[in-house]
Amino acid sequence: MVEFTLPANSKIGTGQTHAAAAGAGDIKRFRIYRWNPDDGKNPVVDTYEVDRDSCGPMVLDALIKIKNEIDPSLTFRRSCREGVCGSCAMNIDGTNTLACTKFIDDIKGDAKIYPLPHMPVIKDLVPDLTQAYAQYASVKPWIQTHSVAPPDREWLQSQDERKELDGLYECVLCFSCTTSCPSYWWNADRYLGPAVLLQAYRWIADSRDDGTGERLDDLEDPFRLYRCHTIMNCSKTCPKSLNPAQAIGEIKKLLVERL
Ligand code: SF4
Ligand code: FES
Repeated sequence: MVEFTLPANSKIGTGQTHAAAAGAGDIKRFRIYRWNPDDGKNPVVDTYEVDRDSCGPMVLDALIKIKNEIDPSLTFRRSCREGVCGSCAMNIDGTNTLACTKFIDDIKGDAKIYPLPHMPVIKDLVPDLTQAYAQYASVKPWIQTHSVAPPDREWLQSQDERKELDGLYECVLCFSCTTSCPSYWWNADRYLGPAVLLQAYRWIADSRDDGTGERLDDLEDPFRLYRCHTIMNCSKTCPKSLNPAQAIGEIKKLLVERL
């Protein structure tokens, strides 16, 4: 039988516990992955006790409170605080999601928080998305016009044409879906993953774009597209309730139809 052993530096230890101040009322424990590239040590999970009586309702509120009041070294990304920038994606309570739209009340017991899975970690909860963004750039996420010159003013669409983009344009590129996908875990170097494929379809579906043939040529590849095995983790985890698996299915359908 094959035996797998984790490299020594990937084993996660137990870190510090930061107890709540005496007199704190409603305490919630946050167990948070910590890793510092500069100290040469293995990652640990630190525990922070947060007084919910003086904390906002979202997981991001708790992270900001921890950083401001307990441990300024805790590192995470965030910007908009309302689910539109995609930067606060992390694994919370076993699911990839956005910290700013995840209610603390929805977490039973201690809140366990890790970076997005199977990505290199830059520090603490910050994953390295360099490759994912390069893959995004590879699908040319802008309108291609070969046969018509773009108009000088707004480029109008009919209501039906515009509707084709529903469920696609709302993607905030948080990569929660991509990092929940086992196919991407094993083939991240060659498979584009659900987030990028949803974006690829977003441009194919755009009535103003006439690069569909080249876009499909580029996707027709055993790895870039066809490593999707319809596992559906992507659609289950998407914090914007989008359906990347369906978008991937639409691309596969177009490829069959043009045979
Ligand atoms: S499809 Fe959903 S989970 Fe995937 S990147 Fe877009 S918003 Fe995030
Ligand atoms: S901070 Fe922008 S999506 Fe959470």
